[in-house]
Amino acid sequence: MKGLKIIATGRSLPSKSVTNDDLSKIVETSDEWIYTRTGIRSRYFCDEGENSLTLSISAAKKALESSGINKDDLGCIIVATLSATYVTPSTACLIQRELELPENIPALDINAACSGFIYGLEVARGLLSGSNAKYGLVIGVEQLSRILDMEDRSTCVLFGDGAGAAIVETEENTLYESVLGTKGGHEISCPGVNNFDDGQKSYVSMDGTAVFRFATSAIPKCIDMLQQKHPFSLDEVDHVVCHQANSRIIDHVVKKLKADPAKFYKDMDHLGNTSAASIPLALSEMDDAGMIKDGDTLLLVGFGSGLTWAGVLIKFQKAKKVS
Ligand code: UT7
Repeated sequence: MKGLKIIATGRSLPSKSVTNDDLSKIVETSDEWIYTRTGIRSRYFCDEGENSLTLSISAAKKALESSGINKDDLGCIIVATLSATYVTPSTACLIQRELELPENIPALDINAACSGFIYGLEVARGLLSGSNAKYGLVIGVEQLSRILDMEDRSTCVLFGDGAGAAIVETEENTLYESVLGTKGGHEISCPGVNNFDDGQKSYVSMDGTAVFRFATSAIPKCIDMLQQKHPFSLDEVDHVVCHQANSRIIDHVVKKLKADPAKFYKDMDHLGNTSAASIPLALSEMDDAGMIKDGDTLLLVGFGSGLTWAGVLIKFQKAKKVS
């Protein structure tokens, strides 16, 4: 199978930023508790007229524009999400219609929670490898605010909304190595619409301690499994982008691996945990800030509900815009 590289990014955030102090007016919590336990200061929640579809469309437009590719050259549309606006039609299908993307290509939503963007890269790679098209659109998006119980302080302070998008390109010999895994369990759970026929809302619940333990072992495990498939040292990686669940999870892993903390990007302070959107949102922020250089090697690691985990070693090669 061919390799895959990221050639452009885009992101979109809702208009409403919600600080820890704002939340402390709704539930019994404090900026001090939230920040010291998680590294989160604020997050974005969708306001009226905003949802996971509008965020996805806006992020996709930006990524397409930044890539400079002709949208007719896209070979697939993959949206990773656990909080799609509609169960059906999928977000991917509605993006196809809204952005007038080609009709003769696969468009689908996938749910692998916080590992979803990396699962999405893998799906795009498989679909593109079996087609003549070179380019794919992969999005991670969440509107978690609509499934948060604002009376449950142990979850409602953690999550946020947002969308990150990437244009990917297949290439025969480019570096690409991935590992994906699952250990089914209810540590993070949201029953979903099917389980409520009395109009009751369905909310996210989480066994935080169990997930923290899982997360701190899943990241080194992913890196180790990748190294077994493709020997490399962290010195050869330019940036490590882990799912942005909790700053302490990343600090724990950096310490365990005796790694350079500067290589591990963090943005949960202003975005919170955006599940499937967190890795592409981080990539887009880094791209815009000029942190990622052409040809950089990225190590992306996701972990979360499912339980799922995923790691990928992938190149960032900026698209050469045709003027
Ligand atoms: O995206 C999917 C992946 N998700 C994750 O990776 C999340 C992993 N888990 C975590 O990040 C952490 O477990 C949390 C941030 C969720 C919780 O941190 P913790 O240090 O494990 O806190 P805890 O759940 O053990 O709670 C400690 C105390 C409890 O009070 P008592 O029982 O000690 O009196 C909680 O009731 O903190 C209390 N507490 C709060 N206090 C103020 C829980 N939530 C809050 C809150 N504000 N928001």
